[in-house]
Amino acid sequence: MAFFYKKKQFDTLPTHIAIIMDGNGRWAKKRSLPRTAGHAAGSNNFKTIARYGNKIGLKYMTVYAFSTENWKRPPEEVKNIMNILRDYLKDAKNFKDENIKVKFIGDISALDEDIRLLIADAEKESENATGMHLNIALNYGGRDEIVKAVRKIVKKGIKPEDITEQTISDNLYTAGMPDPDFIIRPSGEYRLSNYLIWQSAYSEYWFSNILWPDFKPKHLDMAIEDYNNRNRRYGGI
Ligand code: FPP
Repeated sequence: MAFFYKKKQFDTLPTHIAIIMDGNGRWAKKRSLPRTAGHAAGSNNFKTIARYGNKIGLKYMTVYAFSTENWKRPPEEVKNIMNILRDYLKDAKNFKDENIKVKFIGDISALDEDIRLLIADAEKESENATGMHLNIALNYGGRDEIVKAVRKIVKKGIKPEDITEQTISDNLYTAGMPDPDFIIRPSGEYRLSNYLIWQSAYSEYWFSNILWPDFKPKHLDMAIEDYNNRNRRYGGI
């Protein structure tokens, strides 16, 4: 699909933007549609925003697709979200044609086997892509990620006195990646919901009432322009 957004110029582009794709259910409700229609619209919008991020030259984008807590939703809704994900993964062109390098972060082992195979294919298919790194957080929870990192560190036999902040970072799903500079949460909620809790220590935040399926490239532009006015001090003055 051709992509016609005009390239914007920004003073500074955050290296890594993380997005909580929230508000699909409310978007559907407003239109008297089933929640699945909201997730389908959210998934389409995810593709638009990922393409746009790649186009403007973002190096990393991490999106929250499904949390460790989302299993509490009605089984029918979970099944529908997984089916939307299957459709997305089956279309491997999504990654190849766009030169986007995709990686899934989260406990993939809990997912159905066909999804795990599709994920492995999608990651393999795009491993040499030189464009944006797109992380899709799936069955992801920040606390769960830290617990798993601690277990890995213990298994590696690292001595307690040798454990540094870097040791923790190096054992997270996001090992080797820069922390998110900027976290965007649409839909009017003002919380992190267990998302990248270690990595977000110094992130800037952008909240808005826009529901995720309505969050357009122009809103990403607005958020980045806002980011450009922030003064990041990392605890200094
Ligand atoms: C939050 O909206 C959204 C989710 C929990 C699921 C997000 C899933 C997608 C965007 C589709 C699948 C993703 C990919 C990567 C293909 P909500 O349901 O909590 O909305 P609400 O707060 O308005 O009820």
